[in-house]
Amino acid sequence: MAKYIVTSSAPLRGEVQISGAKNAVLPILAATVLAGEVCEINDVPDLRDVQVMCNILDSIGCKVTQEKEISRVTVDSSTISNSEVPYALAKLMRASFFITGALLAKTGKAKIAIPGGCAIGNRPVDLHIKGLRMLGAQIYEDNAGIDAHAEKLIGNLVYLDFPSVGATENIMMAATLAEGTTTIENAAEEPEIVDLANFLNKMGAKIKGAGTDTIKIEGVEKLHGTRHTVIPDRIETGTFMVAAAITRGDVLIKNSVPDHVRPVIAKLIECGAVVNDEVDGLRVRGDLKPLVATDIKTLPYPGFPTDMQAQFMALLTTVEGTSQVFETVFENRFMHAAELSKMGANIRVEGRKATVPGDKFTLKGTQVISTDLRGGAALVLASLVAKGTSEILDIFHIERGYENFVEKLRGLGAIIERVED
Ligand code: EPZ
Repeated sequence: MAKYIVTSSAPLRGEVQISGAKNAVLPILAATVLAGEVCEINDVPDLRDVQVMCNILDSIGCKVTQEKEISRVTVDSSTISNSEVPYALAKLMRASFFITGALLAKTGKAKIAIPGGCAIGNRPVDLHIKGLRMLGAQIYEDNAGIDAHAEKLIGNLVYLDFPSVGATENIMMAATLAEGTTTIENAAEEPEIVDLANFLNKMGAKIKGAGTDTIKIEGVEKLHGTRHTVIPDRIETGTFMVAAAITRGDVLIKNSVPDHVRPVIAKLIECGAVVNDEVDGLRVRGDLKPLVATDIKTLPYPGFPTDMQAQFMALLTTVEGTSQVFETVFENRFMHAAELSKMGANIRVEGRKATVPGDKFTLKGTQVISTDLRGGAALVLASLVAKGTSEILDIFHIERGYENFVEKLRGLGAIIERVED
C-alpha cells in the first residue's frame, strides 16, 4: 500500500493549474451512452474513478479510447451490447450508479448493483429509483442491486425530497429520450449539473433550467455524438485555496472559475486571507494578516460545499479562536476530525456539529489514516504545517479525486513524497 510522507513546509508559493472536474466528467462519461455515436470529452482528469467509469462503458460494449497525455477520452456508444454493469465494477464507485438512467433510456434495460455506503454515510439511492419509476420504469430491487426495464420512458413531474446531485443527474439523463416533458423540482443546482446539461444539449437534448431548482427536459427521439470540454474542478480549486491559506502562502490558482467557489472565497476572507480574482486566476494569500476563526455550515449548492468541509476544518485548527462546523448534507462526515486530533487538534464532535479550537502551533506530525477522499486531502493540508513529519496511509482515497496531487503540491514548495509501503 502506498503512503505520503509530508514534512512541515514553508508557505506555499507559485502557481498551480486546476484539472477537469471529477464530479462533472463522471456523469458526462455516463451520458455518452445516450449518443449511440462518438463523443469526444476533453480536460478529463487522470483519476481512478475516471478509469472505473471507462471500464464500465467498455464492459457494456462501448468503444473507449483514453489519451491521457492530452486528457481526452473518446467513447463510441454505437456498439453497446448489454445493459448489465458487472458487480465488481459497480461496487468500486458510487458514481457508477449514475449510468442507470442513461442505460435505461437508451436500451430499455439496466441491471446494476446498488452502491454501498462509505465512510461519510450510507448514501441510499432511493431518490434515483423513485425518479426513474416516476418516468415509468419497472424496477425490481433486491439487496444485490436493481433490475430496471422500460419500453419507453414517459415524461413526468419529479419532486426530489432532497436536492440530490446524483438523482438530479440520473433522472435528467433518462428524461432526454422520454416521451413528453419532464420537470424536476427541488433539483440540485451544482455547476456539474449545468456542465452535464450543456453536454446533453450539445448532443441534441432539450434541457432548460439546469443550475436552478427546477429543470425542464423535453424528450427527443434520439441524440447524437458531440465534443465537450469539462469544467474545472471547483473542489480541487478550493483545496489549493485552503493550502495557500493554511501555510500562510501566496498561490495563484489557474484554470479556476471564481463563481463556482464563492462560499469558499467568502469564508477564507472571513478568516483574514486575501483572495483576488486576477486575469490568470484566483490569487490566495494567507501571509498578509493573522488568520482568525469563523463558522462553517455545509449546504447544497450554492451553499458552502460539503466536499470542502474537511479541508476547511484543517485550516480552522491553525487559526486564532474557536470555530463551529456544521455538516448538514452527510450524516457521518467528521471522520477526519479524529485523525486531526491525533495531530494535536482538540476537536469536539457532537452529531452534526464540530467545535474546532484553533492555534497556529498546535499540530504535530504523526501517522494518520485517510478515511475518505476529502478527509484524506485535509490530512495532507494539516501535515504541511504540523511540526515535524507525518505519514498518511490509505492514500488511494485521495488519488480517486486529485490528479497529480503530489506533483502539484511539490510545485508550490511542499515537502511531500509518495512511497510504496
Ligand atoms: C455527489 O454525490 C458528489 N459525487 C459528492 O462528492 C458530493 O459530496 C455530493 O454530490 C453532495 O454534493 C459525485 O458527484 C460523483 P447526493 P451524490 O445524492 O450524488 C442523500 C466527492 O468528495 N441521498 O447529493 O451521491 C445522501 O445520503 C464526493 O467528490 C438520499 O437520501 O450526493 C446525502 O445525505 C463525495 N437518497 C445527500 O442526499 C438518494 O437517493 C446528498 O447526496 C440520494 C442521496
